[in-house]
Amino acid sequence: MRVPIDCDSDVVAARQKGRELASQCGFPSTDMAVVATAISELARNIVRYAVRGEIILRLVQNNGKRGIEVVAADDGPGIPDVGLAMQDGYSTSGGLGLGLPGTRRLMDDFEITSDFGKGTKVTVRRWRR
Ligand SMILES: Nc1ncnc2c1ncn2[C@@H]1O[C@H](COP(=O)(O)OP(=O)(O)OP(=O)(O)O)[C@@H](O)[C@H]1O
Ligand SMILES: [Mg+2]
Repeated sequence: MRVPIDCDSDVVAARQKGRELASQCGFPSTDMAVVATAISELARNIVRYAVRGEIILRLVQNNGKRGIEVVAADDGPGIPDVGLAMQDGYSTSGGLGLGLPGTRRLMDDFEITSDFGKGTKVTVRRWRR
């Protein structure tokens, strides 16, 4: 499922889609909340820093374990120093700087690729307990 992101209401829509998907496949509500929070943070970053992009949601399986994968992708300015951006409190917009590091702590898997000038792709997964 793809959700285009280019304004605040798209962030809300993407979060809702994530909740729906999680509940459809029987995830407990704690997982739904975690996935919804991750979607919010990644989608908010798209709107704030890249203007537009998309959230891709899908169900994944690994060795019989089921999970939800969230990919946040944009063709925005990219992040010059990903290591810095992953630190608690680092923000270029006067924010709390907790969106990316908080999302990494919440989710089971976290991968980020970003090149300055080439956009950003964040892939996160939450496996069902
Ligand atoms: N999609 C993106 N494109 C370009 N830069 C990004 C993107 N996402 C994050 N960044 C950069 O990484 C920094 C850290 O992001 P993070 O979400 O952790 O904090 P924040 O957005 O500044 O504050 P918060 O999320 O706590 O409100 C941002 O300030 C911004 O410089
Ligand atoms: Mg953020």
